[in-house]
Amino acid sequence: MRLSDTPLITADTIRKRTAELAKRISRDYAGKELLVIIVLKGGAFFGADLIRRLDLEVTVDFLRAKSYGKTRSTGAVDFLLLPDQPITDRHVLVVEDILDTGLTAQAILAHLAAAGPASVAVCALLDKPARRQTPIKGDYVAITIDNHFVVGYGLDCEERMRHLPDIWIAEEK
Ligand code: XMP
Ligand code: MG
Repeated sequence: MRLSDTPLITADTIRKRTAELAKRISRDYAGKELLVIIVLKGGAFFGADLIRRLDLEVTVDFLRAKSYGKTRSTGAVDFLLLPDQPITDRHVLVVEDILDTGLTAQAILAHLAAAGPASVAVCALLDKPARRQTPIKGDYVAITIDNHFVVGYGLDCEERMRHLPDIWIAEEK
């Protein structure tokens, strides 16, 4: 695995897009309390930067999902960690690193919907619509990318490279 010669998305671009998205979210939820559920591990970096720019009453919680069989359209998802905050009647924003097939987001939304939230929306740093296997659409997407495998700013290659400030294309060697 080697990285592209230059970043696909620089830290500066990430910062600007995150600020724009935070403004939109703050406007859309004005006067409401928001429960932000950050999807670990990849969403932790973007999520932490996003919530610090929200001009709202915010409660933060986390969940961790593990998806299996991405090649199968069933896409079973296990929850390794669930939010401890009540969901019922809350406005919930799920924050993910990337929407790829959409199977993870779909399973998370189904799980949360069962608890009767007032509303649920999905926010993602990256969107790779070319790979979608579900009707899932991000309500708030910072950056749409072509079909590359990317690493950095939370995204990993076998748990490495999450800490990189920029986002890079990882190429098979
Ligand atoms: P689905 O397919 O369920 O997947 O939307 C979402 C999860 O898949 C991982 N993923 C990636 N991780 N670079 C990564 O490091 C990528 O390009 C990539 N595409 C998908 C990621 O964990 C995401 O939450
Ligand atoms: Mg990963």
